[in-house]
Amino acid sequence: MTEPETKIVLPKGFLIGAATSAHQVEGNNTNNDWWHAEQAGKVPKSGQATDHYHKYEEDFTIAQDIGLNAFRISIAWSRIEPQEGQWDNQEVEHYRKVLQSMKAHGLTRMVTLWHFAMPQWLADKGGFESSHAIEAFARYAAFVAQNLGDEIDLWCTVNEPELYAGMGYNKGKWPPFKHSVFGTLVVIKNIIQAHKKAYKAIKQVRPEAKIGVAKNSVYYEPYRRNNILDQIIVWVSNTFGNHYFLERIVHELDFIGINYYFYNLMSFSLPDGVREMNFNFLKNRPEDKPEVMRSDMGWRTYPKGLYHVLLDLKKFNKPIYITENGIANARDDMRKDFIREHLRWVARAIRGGADVRGYFYWSLIDNYEWADGYGPLFGLVEINRETLERKVRPSAEVIKEIEIQK
Ligand code: FCB
Repeated sequence: MTEPETKIVLPKGFLIGAATSAHQVEGNNTNNDWWHAEQAGKVPKSGQATDHYHKYEEDFTIAQDIGLNAFRISIAWSRIEPQEGQWDNQEVEHYRKVLQSMKAHGLTRMVTLWHFAMPQWLADKGGFESSHAIEAFARYAAFVAQNLGDEIDLWCTVNEPELYAGMGYNKGKWPPFKHSVFGTLVVIKNIIQAHKKAYKAIKQVRPEAKIGVAKNSVYYEPYRRNNILDQIIVWVSNTFGNHYFLERIVHELDFIGINYYFYNLMSFSLPDGVREMNFNFLKNRPEDKPEVMRSDMGWRTYPKGLYHVLLDLKKFNKPIYITENGIANARDDMRKDFIREHLRWVARAIRGGADVRGYFYWSLIDNYEWADGYGPLFGLVEINRETLERKVRPSAEVIKEIEIQK
């Protein structure tokens, strides 16, 4: 049932932003594990990316012009700490200018300390499979707190920990291209510890800092609604996929950040007596919901799922930011509705008692989509890959439709 069209009104102080990450937009991040994998031909080359490293001023001007009041960047750890224990003050100054420029453009600044790409020296030491990374991350977090903390409004320690671990250590599609369930679990366990230590390290320097994570969150439904096995799989997925990480860090968390992209139908079957879990991620149900949109990447996007995810997080009793939500849509014919509908469900979730404080669209600009290279186009702003020229897409108009209470 579709509800009558109404203006989307969000509470006073609500943040409407866009999100990016260093490796995906800056360009020439040569000192990390992704760059090395790119040169080895294991994943597409990122090269200059969008040259946001030099064009940040232009990008923040666009962000302001289209009506955003917030922005999420990540700092490239490999730029700040190019070798273990060596700090690059020029890069610190660069990020200071970036953060000051954001402020000058009226953007509340959310900063992620580590978004997938890691310094090569750390990758060489085993990355997050080794507990060494826990100490290293906390030290880096403390350094950023001391040197840039006065320019950061909201902190995310890490981005999508389980997705990172799954892609790199289980599916083997991202650096370090491993296939080990045990390794995946170790990485998640170590990232939990790294978050906790970094949280404490930042708070020691800046007790007033607001620190969260950007957690991948999925809305799960049973493929066969009345099938008990499918229901169990949904329960397992929620418990381990959505809740586990947050429960472990709940005492070191000032807000919950969620990245919402997926609506997954789950099913379990025992074909021919062989016990096998069958995750039907992308299969349509016969009675599939008409409002489910398919992105260019085939991802099933379901705005109402965000409402369910938000209400489910109420039990944590923390402010919530949607740190990412977006659609790959080259033709730009779905993006407006996509954003509108998600925000409509955010407004309903707020009325339902979820303490949602902001929404960051992924992404401001088309960028390097990891193993998918420059194929998927998520941007509110189109990038000409030859000239790197920026062109605002018509869908960006939707931002100005949204009303934030005075
Ligand atoms: C998320 C990542 C982000 C971007 C989007 C499309 O999983 O956090 O870097 O790639 O997906």
